[in-house]
Amino acid sequence: MGTYEDVFRASTEDPEAFWLKAAEGIDWEVAPRRALDASGAPFYRWFPDGRLNVCFNALDRHVEAGRGEQPALVYDSPVTETQRTYTYAQLRDEVAAFAGALAQLGVGRGDRVVIYMPMVAEAAIAMLACARIGAVHSVVFGGFAPHELAVRIDDAAPKVVVSASCGIEGKRVIAYKPLLDQAIELAVHKPEKSVILQRPQQRAELGPDDLDWADLIADAPPADCVPVAATDPLYILYTSGTTGKPKGVVRDCGGYAVALHWSMGAVYDIGPGETMFTGSDVGWVVGHSYIVYAPLLAGATTVLYEGKPVGTPDAGQFWRVAAEHKVKTMFTAPTAFRAIRKQDPKGELTADYDLSGLRYLFLAGERLDPETYHWASNLLNIPVIDHWWQTETGWPIVANPVGIEAAPVKPGSPTRPLPGWDVHVLNAAGEPVPAGVDGAIVVKLPLPPGSLPTLWNDDDRFIASYLSAFDGYYLTGDSGHLDADGYVFVMGRTDDVINVAGHRLSTGSMEETLAAHPDVAECAVIGVADALKGQVPRGLVVLKAGTHRKPGEVEAELVQLVRDRIGAVASLKDVAIVPALPKTRSGKILRKTMRGIADGHDEPIPSTVDDPAVIEALRPVLRRADHTP
Ligand code: COA
Ligand code: AMP
Repeated sequence: MGTYEDVFRASTEDPEAFWLKAAEGIDWEVAPRRALDASGAPFYRWFPDGRLNVCFNALDRHVEAGRGEQPALVYDSPVTETQRTYTYAQLRDEVAAFAGALAQLGVGRGDRVVIYMPMVAEAAIAMLACARIGAVHSVVFGGFAPHELAVRIDDAAPKVVVSASCGIEGKRVIAYKPLLDQAIELAVHKPEKSVILQRPQQRAELGPDDLDWADLIADAPPADCVPVAATDPLYILYTSGTTGKPKGVVRDCGGYAVALHWSMGAVYDIGPGETMFTGSDVGWVVGHSYIVYAPLLAGATTVLYEGKPVGTPDAGQFWRVAAEHKVKTMFTAPTAFRAIRKQDPKGELTADYDLSGLRYLFLAGERLDPETYHWASNLLNIPVIDHWWQTETGWPIVANPVGIEAAPVKPGSPTRPLPGWDVHVLNAAGEPVPAGVDGAIVVKLPLPPGSLPTLWNDDDRFIASYLSAFDGYYLTGDSGHLDADGYVFVMGRTDDVINVAGHRLSTGSMEETLAAHPDVAECAVIGVADALKGQVPRGLVVLKAGTHRKPGEVEAELVQLVRDRIGAVASLKDVAIVPALPKTRSGKILRKTMRGIADGHDEPIPSTVDDPAVIEALRPVLRRADHTP
C-alpha cells in the first residue's frame, strides 16, 4: 500500500480516484463512475450512481467465490455454554430464510425493522436479512429500558420488530418480551408484527401480533438479494445527544461497504479467512461495523460473543476465545481490559491458552488510560492500538493503521488521522491552534465514505448538531490537540455526552428523568472518573421546599427511576441531595466546574459565578471518592 504518508496524501490529493479505487473491493450491480456528489453540500453523497446489495457482498459473493465452507460467524456463548459455527453457505441460507420471512410480512425496500436482541447469532442474521431485501434496520441495545425503545420505535416507525424471549446477564435471565410489550404500549407508532426468537432459558408467551421466529422461517421461501442505490440507507443507529431525544445516525449502503472493506486490510490487517473478535454488542456502532459488516465484507471469520469479559465463568474468556477460534485481531473497549485486570491482576489466566496467533489488540470507545495500555502491552506482548471513532463516523477517524504501516505508539494518543479524515483543532473563534494546544477537534468536510450522511428524518438537527459551529467542518464534540508529529490526542467530550463502560450516554437525558420526579426542584448529572468504567454518572439534586422524606428514600427512587426509564446500562447509582446547585449570574448550572472538582482537579471557579459559597458547600459531596451513596 505504500507508507502512511503516501496513502494519506493520495486520499487528500485525489479523493475521487482514491475512493473509486477502494470501491473495487466491492461487488456492484452497477459500478459507480463517480465517488463524491457534492451538489447538495453540506449534504454529501458517496457513489451516487452505484447500485449494490450489502448482504450479497457480506455473504453470497464469498460463497460464489468458493469460500462457502469457510466459517463466517462463530457464536460463542459461555453464559449459555453453547457454541455454533456458521459457514458462509450456512449463514447465507439462514439470512435468506429470515429475509424471506420478513418479505412475507410485507417488509420491503426502505421499510424499517427494529431489532431488540441479546448477543445471539440471530441478531446478526436479522440485520443481514434486512440488508438483503433493502429494508433499513435499527438495532436497539438490549440494556435500554422500554421508554428508550419506545422513543426509537416512534422515530423509526418500523413495520416489524424483531426480538427474543430473553437475554442473559451473567447468571441472570432477563425477560425481553415484557420490555418489548411495554415499549409498544408506550409508543405512538404500533409495529404490525413482532417476531420473537424463543430461547430455551426462558420462553415468552406470544400475543396475537407476535410470531415465533422458528415457525416463520419454516414456511418462508428464501429471499434473493435486492440491489439498491448506494445512497439508500442500510441502517439507523440511535446514539445519545445532549437531550433526551436520541439522534438517529443514518448509514448508507455504498459508502459504508467501501469504507469498511478498505479498513479491514488497512487498519486491522485482516484478510479473507482470518479471524477477528470484537468484544462489544451489536447494539453499538462497534458491533455493527466490526462484529457484523466489516469482517464479513472482507471474507473473514467473526466471533459473536455473548457474555461479559469477566464473571461467567471467569476473567479468562477473552483468552479462551482468542485461542479456540484462532483470533488474529481482537477489538474491545478499555473497560473490558480494566475489568479483566481487576479480577486477574497478573494476567495469570493467559497461561491456560495458546495466544501465539493473536497479533493485535485494538481498543476504542473511550479514552485508553496509560495503565491499561501498559498492562495489556506487557501481558500480551503484541501491539496494543488505541483508535478513536464515533457512532456518527462508522469507522475510525484516527488510528495506527498497521495494515499500511505501524507508527511508533505514543500512549495517550490514538495516533494519526486515517485517509479521508482531514482533522483539525480549532479555538472558539474557529482559528487553528498551534501543536500541543487543546481546542475543538473538527473534520473538514466532506467526511469520507461510511460516515453519516444525515440524521434520520432530521436534516436540521444534523446541521445544528454537527455543521453549524464551524463553517465547513464537522464538529466531533471531542476536545484535544495535535502534536508536532501529527498525532492526535483526544481529551474528552465538550458536551453532555459521557462514556460509561464504553457505552455512550447522555447526562441531559438523565437530568430530564430526574426532573420528572415530583419532589425534585432542579438537578444536574455529571460524569465523574471511575476506576473500572472510565466514567460514571453522578446526580446532584435540589428538592422542592417543604419536601420531608426519610433519609435515602428520594435518592433510591431516583436511581430506580433512571433504571426504569433509561435502563440498567445508564449505571446511575449515585444521587446526592444538595442544598443548591452552583450557577452563573445568568442562571446556567456550572457542570464543568463541578466535574473538575469531582475529578480532583484544581478547578478554577469562573468569574461569572453567582454565589461562590454554593460551590464551597458542594466540594465535600463532589470530592467523594466512593461513588455509591
Ligand atoms: N441487557 C440487559 N441488561 C444489560 C445489558 C443488556 N444487553 N447490558 C448491560 N446490562 C445491565 C448490566 O447487567 C448492569 O446491570 P446491574 O446494574 O443490575 O448490574 C448494567 O446494565 C450496567 O452494565 P455495564 O455497564 O455493562 O456494567 P457491568 O458491571 O455489568 O459490566 C463491564 C462491566 C466492564 C464488564 C462491561 O461493561 C464490559 O465488558 N464493557 C466493555 C465492552 C463493551 O461492551 N463496550 C461497548 C463499546 S465497544
Ligand atoms: P460512540 O459514539 O459510542 O462510539 O462514542 C464516541 C465517543 O467516545 C467519542 O466522541 C469520544 O468521546 C469517545 N471515544 C471513542 N474512542 C475513543 C478513544 N480512542 N479515545 C478517547 N475517546 C474515545
